[in-house]
Amino acid sequence: MIIAIDGPAASGKSTTAKKVAHQLSFIYLDTGAMYRAVTLAVLNAGIDPNVEGDVRGVLQNLKISVEESDGESKTFLNGNDVSEEIRRTEVTDHVSAVSALPSVREEMVTIQRRIADGKDAVVEGRDIGTVVFPEADFKFYISASYEVRGERRGLDLKKLGIELSKEELIKDLKRRDGIDSGRMHSPLTRADDAILVDTTDMTFEEQVAFIVEKVRNS
Ligand code: CDP
Repeated sequence: MIIAIDGPAASGKSTTAKKVAHQLSFIYLDTGAMYRAVTLAVLNAGIDPNVEGDVRGVLQNLKISVEESDGESKTFLNGNDVSEEIRRTEVTDHVSAVSALPSVREEMVTIQRRIADGKDAVVEGRDIGTVVFPEADFKFYISASYEVRGERRGLDLKKLGIELSKEELIKDLKRRDGIDSGRMHSPLTRADDAILVDTTDMTFEEQVAFIVEKVRNS
């Protein structure tokens, strides 16, 4: 069974998806982490993230894998654990440009299907219910107000020792939403049959319970 969870940055998607997977004993796949890992590889290679031909060259020599241990999802780039590095501001600044490139998406979607196809999985991203698994058994689209998303992203970054004002964070979320929703190839959009979960006034526990109950009661 596939549960697709899509939505914009800092909507509470990742933490919710991870916990839902844990409660249902499903595997959890964070596809954003994969796009972040490609972006890190592009930056490490000193290549312009907007030049598709150059990025394609990087893709050819890339090995991205994800593993779960102790309830945590780890992302590996050519065998190195990059789980923390991919959350850095420099990666966040460029990830939407890299993710908009068709060759990057094709490669990542192939890997994502290989990992989750035929399994019980919670797959989280921007295009899971629309493109990667359009036949998913359950589809959820998580959203929240910019105010709340700015606060949530601030708390995430604080844990990594990065302090930015809420205004700066909201500005960046809007910038990234604009690129993610406006791109030609598999833009961020709610699938017609996805259940909308507005988490603005929901606690983390409520978000998880809402999804788990929908799945269990079906
Ligand atoms: O954690 P955060 O909400 O900041 O975003 P993420 O899930 O880590 O995804 C980072 C970026 O990857 C997004 O802003 C998208 O540009 C891209 N992405 C995508 O294009 N398609 C996906 N399925 C997942 C992420």
